[in-house]
Amino acid sequence: MPSEQSPLFYPDLALSKNAYVSSSAEYQQMYKKSIENPEEFWGEIARQFHWETPIDSDKFFRYNFDLTKGPIFNKWLDGATTNISYNLLDRNIRNGHGDKIAYYWEGNHPDDYSRLTYKKLLEEVCRFANVLKSLGVKKGDRVAIYMPMILEAVITLLACTRIGAVHSLVFAGFSSDSFAERITDCEARIIVTADGVWRGEKLLQLKSICDQAMAKCAQEGHNVQHCIVVSHLERVTSPSGSQRHSNRTPMTEGRDIWWQDVVPQASTSCYPEWMQAEDPLFMLYTSGSTGKPKGVLHTTAGYLLYAATTFKYVFDYKLNDVYWCTADIGWITGHSYVVYGPLANAATSVLFEGTPFYPDNDRFWAVIDKYKVTQFYTAPTAIRALMKFGEQIVKKHNLSTLKVMGSVGEPINPEAWLWYYKVVGHEKASIVDTFWQTETGGHVLTTLPGALPMKPGAAGFPFFGVQPVLLDENGKEIKGEGEGYLVFSRPWPGLMRTLYGSHDRYEVTYFSKFPGYYCTGDGARRDADGYLWVTGRVDDMLNVSGHLMSTAEIESVLTEHEHVSEAAVVAKPHPVKGECLYCFITLSEQGTYNEALLKELKTHVRERIGPFAQPDVIQNAPALPKTRSGKIMRRILRKVAVNDREVGDISTLAETGVVEQLFAMRPPNA
Ligand code: WT7
Repeated sequence: MPSEQSPLFYPDLALSKNAYVSSSAEYQQMYKKSIENPEEFWGEIARQFHWETPIDSDKFFRYNFDLTKGPIFNKWLDGATTNISYNLLDRNIRNGHGDKIAYYWEGNHPDDYSRLTYKKLLEEVCRFANVLKSLGVKKGDRVAIYMPMILEAVITLLACTRIGAVHSLVFAGFSSDSFAERITDCEARIIVTADGVWRGEKLLQLKSICDQAMAKCAQEGHNVQHCIVVSHLERVTSPSGSQRHSNRTPMTEGRDIWWQDVVPQASTSCYPEWMQAEDPLFMLYTSGSTGKPKGVLHTTAGYLLYAATTFKYVFDYKLNDVYWCTADIGWITGHSYVVYGPLANAATSVLFEGTPFYPDNDRFWAVIDKYKVTQFYTAPTAIRALMKFGEQIVKKHNLSTLKVMGSVGEPINPEAWLWYYKVVGHEKASIVDTFWQTETGGHVLTTLPGALPMKPGAAGFPFFGVQPVLLDENGKEIKGEGEGYLVFSRPWPGLMRTLYGSHDRYEVTYFSKFPGYYCTGDGARRDADGYLWVTGRVDDMLNVSGHLMSTAEIESVLTEHEHVSEAAVVAKPHPVKGECLYCFITLSEQGTYNEALLKELKTHVRERIGPFAQPDVIQNAPALPKTRSGKIMRRILRKVAVNDREVGDISTLAETGVVEQLFAMRPPNA
């Protein structure tokens, strides 16, 4: 791991000069205040927003992080009331930004694009909020959303917040099984989707996936009352040219409703529901190491403050900038940095429906050029995939507007960092390597773009209000240089409040390992200059192209096959995806390890979880390396996956012959 020897890259002088935070000293001063006086620090920020019931300074901020002292909680601005959509839309319009563009929508096909101002966005949000109300949706009800990157997705989220409904978005790359599980878990009665979407040259029939999901919910005894469907395919250009898609998806009478049949008639005004600061805002599922997804719950006031503040400082967003985050709205990055953070700052964003590779491998660069993007936010896996096409294709476009470029989802390798910095950012734009999680609500570690020198591969320093600590296995704090568990010793406003329907699991998962600390599940190293380097997961989680998944969920899907008696999954380093899935399967007596079986298993994983979870390698393992107590030793399997025979101490293994056998049976393509 590179560390203090790695070169420092200083922010561009002009960027620094105009930045909200322009020096390391200024960062430190603000950071100190945020830790020593959180009420004052966050209070000044909170005053920029509208509170229907004013903030009570006695109840500004309270928490308990220590299970031995009682239940875990974390409350901000308790007692105050507000409405998020009011702050994102009405407030900005009052401040003179009504005609400002909130989103440039860029379709999959370059011929398709549109735009939406703040004023128009508010009207559309009110219309859909009224539709939801007319269908009986009330404050606190959950609405499940399965949508592509279209303006209606943003409208749907904000319409929920207008009336106090809790949105639960599921990434539209999850299978119908995964969606059904999430609908049932949050007991959503209303689903919002689109008929379908083109991603590159591929057509995804979203509504038919929803139909399958609703059928599965019904089998479980949960009936979805209504499915609202945006008619999207017939208004966009298909990859074969101007030909429009006219093949309408089947609709179930009484249950399914076309968006276009109900929204245009609805009223453009809708009085906001005033919400308590700690009322739920949304939930978002993330993988849990037991296999069952966790419904991370975020609440109103704290999340608003945190998404708004991180967006402003980490991207150094100024009113005339054009910001583009490529993340799908179905992930937390899409929530905090496509919707809430940008809108809270009256930002103009690009909302992109397509892929980096369509119609050509320069689409990202073409879009940056087209909209004169000033802040760009993407993932290391995308950067690595695009590096392969060389510099020439990047240089065809004018990217000189870029000031800040973000990275998120996994550690970025220095090689990809340098390419991003030099080829895309012309050694002028600052890179912000933002470490955070679905649970943290917003960025928790990064370097601020105008203030702090960068190190390729290091996330850097804590954001305001965040106090990172490194602990050793015994829970002892590692001060100064060293590596350990990355934990946080106090909450910040955006940290999740609970897991939906399971506060026990919340306490056990995040707070039981080290009393008094929120445990991220990641390891990190602090170098001599104080930079934090996130080293990756320390639990049984995998990160494939920035998608977090648990070994347990993949294993349980593999063992659903009648011929698989046992499965173990580990991460193997992958040049583009960061990590890929290397699976070991033990077959039952009737099973035969052949191409047909491998194909079946891969398809099964795609269908049960989603295409992004497809295994790269499935190896036959007549036996798995286990301790005498029966625990699978994944450490050894990780060595087999990379064909590294330095397996270390295997004295705790029940049968040592297993290891040699696994190396001998590695498939030729592995
Ligand atoms: C996990 C959280 C936060 C939005 C996207 C993923 C890894 C994320 C970084 C980074 C190193 C990172 C961690 C973390 N991760 N960003 N900049 N450097 N690792 O959200 O699905 O909740 O995943 O992603 O392992 O725990 P998520």
